[in-house]
Amino acid sequence: MIASALLRKWSVVPRLFFLLCLVSGSAAARPPAGTASDPEIENKISSLLARMTLAEKLGQLQQLDGTWDGDVRPEQMELARQGLLGSAICVRGAKRTTELQRVAMTESKMKIPILFSFDVIHGYRTIFPVPLGEAASWDPSVVERADCIAAAEASAAGVRWTFAPMVDIARDPRWGRIVEGSGEDQFLGAAMAAAAVRGFQGTNYSRPDKMVACAKHWVAYGAAEGGRDYNTTEVSERTLREIYFPPFKAAVDAGVGTVMSAFNDLDGIPCTANSFILTDVLRREWHFHGLVISDWNAVKELIAQGVAANGEAAAARAMTAGVDVEMVSQFYHEYGEQLVSEGKIPMATIDRSVRRVLRVKYRLGLFEHPYADEGLEKATLLSPANLAAARELAARTFVLLKNDHETLPISRQLKSIAVIGPLADDAQSMIGPWSGDGRKEDAVTLLAGIHAELPTAKIIHARGCDVTGDSRAGFELAINAARESDFTILAVGESADMSGEAASRSSLDLPGQQLELIQAIHATGKPYVVVLMNGRPLSIGWVATNSPAILETWFAGTQGGYAIADTLFGDVNPGGKLPVTFPRSVGQVPVYYNHKNTGRPPGGDSKDASRYIDIPWTPLYPFGYGLSYTQFRLSHLELSATHIHRDGTIIIGVDVENTGDRAGDEVVQLYLHDLVASVTRPVKALKGFERVSLRPGESRHVEFTLGPGDLGIYNQAMQFAVEPGTFKVMVGTSSEAGLESSFEVGP
Ligand code: NOJ
Repeated sequence: MIASALLRKWSVVPRLFFLLCLVSGSAAARPPAGTASDPEIENKISSLLARMTLAEKLGQLQQLDGTWDGDVRPEQMELARQGLLGSAICVRGAKRTTELQRVAMTESKMKIPILFSFDVIHGYRTIFPVPLGEAASWDPSVVERADCIAAAEASAAGVRWTFAPMVDIARDPRWGRIVEGSGEDQFLGAAMAAAAVRGFQGTNYSRPDKMVACAKHWVAYGAAEGGRDYNTTEVSERTLREIYFPPFKAAVDAGVGTVMSAFNDLDGIPCTANSFILTDVLRREWHFHGLVISDWNAVKELIAQGVAANGEAAAARAMTAGVDVEMVSQFYHEYGEQLVSEGKIPMATIDRSVRRVLRVKYRLGLFEHPYADEGLEKATLLSPANLAAARELAARTFVLLKNDHETLPISRQLKSIAVIGPLADDAQSMIGPWSGDGRKEDAVTLLAGIHAELPTAKIIHARGCDVTGDSRAGFELAINAARESDFTILAVGESADMSGEAASRSSLDLPGQQLELIQAIHATGKPYVVVLMNGRPLSIGWVATNSPAILETWFAGTQGGYAIADTLFGDVNPGGKLPVTFPRSVGQVPVYYNHKNTGRPPGGDSKDASRYIDIPWTPLYPFGYGLSYTQFRLSHLELSATHIHRDGTIIIGVDVENTGDRAGDEVVQLYLHDLVASVTRPVKALKGFERVSLRPGESRHVEFTLGPGDLGIYNQAMQFAVEPGTFKVMVGTSSEAGLESSFEVGP
């Protein structure tokens, strides 16, 4: 139903592209990507292995970096010539990949193609919203479509391996990499993880416009203590299984071809050397057959982490634990032969890892088609269809946080608009962190988007201040601009480099003088909207209380300025929802909706409750929250049964109606609480969601089916089981809302 409603709205070109995306894997004759291969490929690999020297085998396990600009480094060229470079990272572009590939294919003895990899996180050249924004769409097809286009662009540029999706759950917004994932919830995260794998790979990444995906960072990297990147983590096995594992499991089930081990340690054992996660869970429990790559230099970092005295020991620990490919550091290459000859690493371990690498290369079709085509690259990158999709998808990720007195949408009849703020004309920030091969010169800023939307209006632009720093020198111009205009659009937040890797913050406040700028504009008494651009939740209490309207736009990508203008002026009705809780203060962190109850829950008047004495314990904006230019009503919550067997299923239905006078989207969200169990349970946990588009007055019946997989928990013996008892059902339009009911699960 949703797909057909969406299709009606699309122009023909993106529609054709999406259909291509949808059928991308359906013609698959081969096994799903992450599973064991077909006999023909396995035979070819065996015959290669029989002819390879140990050095050449270790070469397949080596990934080396090019320059960040995408150039080949001389060392890569030399290793390729000797047949010692299995894969490259960062080298990109049809011309440059072909140049290096030609050396491997014509000058090396074995003629094994190089696999080119890159962080294609939210687009290759056409950049889509950052993943946290994509998750805010609560629409997996947004992720699938964006990643489908990213795969087509990257593969045209010779890059067939992406280090995405990042499926780390993040409950700490200080951690800069929260921007790269789907937020705080494992159910939403799992849905987005599977969608990303489908987008990048289809069901078979053999197609020339597909690439092999990589679920990262395995695991619990987002639990870094203090939100400080790369920091140690302390996570119980129960929390791993309940919270951090599910998006990875979803990626594996969707057939993800590769997995990246995380930088952090876990219960004292760095993930790079952690056989519990790499072998016991990933291989034995989940039967993952793809390859595992270390993170950048992470094998070498085992020395700094204090679990290996030298390079030889570091290589041995990583190999033994289950890391197949070493990224950037070269300890496998340097010490692999010695480790085998000393009997510390069996040849079978090396062969198994090489087999996994070669299997991916065969499946990608690299042996038959090793070279990218410059003509195809030119036609694919930034194509009109890709740009149209970027504009449309971006608008689906925005979250309307506040809209008093219908401040939005802005009337097109206005004669003058002030566009103020340090991010109003910042193209680099529009494409956000981890923006692949995206270029700021391709990006449409908010200011450019407003100009395009209102070509005849008087538009005054003033920065007001920088994102950071103490200067208020620009305030006067900005205040005057607001005074002279009918309406002010105020773009504030974080610059792109304030989130992403190695970009943790200790404060969640608006940096620099931006709050003071908002207050100065507010004091003019003129109408305005705050447009937020940021890669993490921000503590914006004053703005939430005082500003009339707030639109959260994350970092919206290449076409962001158009998409924001489309939304501000009402061509698009915002329908996104927060994929992560917005705290009132950094002191509340971690604050997430699916917390456990305590013996002294907050809520009443008692002082002896789990709360703060200086601020409320509740968040500023809850998970799942977001408004619309129209209104919706939920009614008729109905359960198919009042009692079910522990192996049974139950259908939960609800009606949703658009009671306003504009078409719009609502996300119906289903939460569950297992009231009494053998182990403590969250007060609510998301178990279903659906984004529906409704015309004014239109209603839709939405149904969710829950079964043992949704009702089960890890019991005291750490076994997954459904326990008899009462389950409370909550259905709403955020994690706080709702219609309620309950059902019993019998033995
Ligand atoms: C380090 C990051 O942690 C990882 O996510 C990324 O894929 C690699 N660098 C390669 O750039």
